[in-house]
Amino acid sequence: MNAPLESRQIPIAVEKKSSFPLDQWYVAAMARELTDKPVARTLLNHPVVLFRTGDGRAAALEDRCCHRSLPLSCGSVEGGGLRCGYHGMLYSPNGSCIEIPGQEKIPAKARVKSYAVREKDQIIWIWMPKQEGTAPTSEPPDYPHHDDPKYKYGFGVYHYDAPYQLIHDNLLDLSHLGYVHLKTIGGNARLHMTAKTVVSSDERSVKVVRLMPGSTPPPTYRAAYPFGDACDRWQEIEFHISHLAIWTGAVEPGKDAIDDPNRGGFHMRGFHGITPETESSAHYFWSMASNRHPDMPETIDTVVEQTKFTFDEDRLVIEAQYRNMQRFNGQSDWTDIHVDAGPNRARRIVAKLVENS
Ligand code: FES
Ligand SMILES: [Fe+2]
Repeated sequence: MNAPLESRQIPIAVEKKSSFPLDQWYVAAMARELTDKPVARTLLNHPVVLFRTGDGRAAALEDRCCHRSLPLSCGSVEGGGLRCGYHGMLYSPNGSCIEIPGQEKIPAKARVKSYAVREKDQIIWIWMPKQEGTAPTSEPPDYPHHDDPKYKYGFGVYHYDAPYQLIHDNLLDLSHLGYVHLKTIGGNARLHMTAKTVVSSDERSVKVVRLMPGSTPPPTYRAAYPFGDACDRWQEIEFHISHLAIWTGAVEPGKDAIDDPNRGGFHMRGFHGITPETESSAHYFWSMASNRHPDMPETIDTVVEQTKFTFDEDRLVIEAQYRNMQRFNGQSDWTDIHVDAGPNRARRIVAKLVENS
């Protein structure tokens, strides 16, 4: 019997669309990670090697020698570039080969792909273009808090076996604190779930503000600041395409207004750079900065330790969530509840950008 007409059609090669927003800056590394050794990292499905030249400039190349494909991350950094660890070809930060040991003439095609990189606010940003070789059309986002003398910060770099947007969801919805993080920044679960939440957004960002007056100070807050029995807590979450900036903290009731821009009390400034590795895995670059109470100057170390513990708890939850999504129906039959307003707006922004990438 003849096959129906549709099934006899010749397949047409379709250009694979990106699963991620392109023409965007993403976090490639925290500045302090890049020392005198190359770092291999897959970013948005691109195998990349990151390194610093002798004069301290950060650079990023495709992680594959054009000679016989050894990862360039197996090589070594030299003054002006990166030397392949197999037959010694030396590459400049723009990807061109500048030396072939034992051979005078360098073929024009002896080069590898390079990526635009900027080091700013102690973060290494990489531009992931829609069209290979095109220059950035903007500068990386600002994150001034790493250099603010009011704060001291620590950082971590986590790998996630889960898609990057599950991390966005988690950070845009801090109502989970009362269930997931009781040992550190949790507190009363019902207060978290009923906190007045204001969500606003534009085409590239989402802001979620939650105020929780009359909270019980959670363990991390008590370890860092001499709170009494109660505190007035705030959470301001800003979502941007490549990262979130989360400003949380608490004031002593009656001392400072919870919404005064110059309020005192205890402050935590979290940076959360979220860069897809593949469709099903991600890099999570975080830092946590806090202010110091004059009587408790060393507490930032405690805050960073407890932050690590907190983010380990998130990773357990999110990776378990993703494993279960794979066993069941993905996210096709999720039921929304009131805490999802912020995460859903971020998902709509990302979906639109992916559509245009
Ligand atoms: S594989 Fe790199 S120089 Fe041969
Ligand atoms: Fe969390």
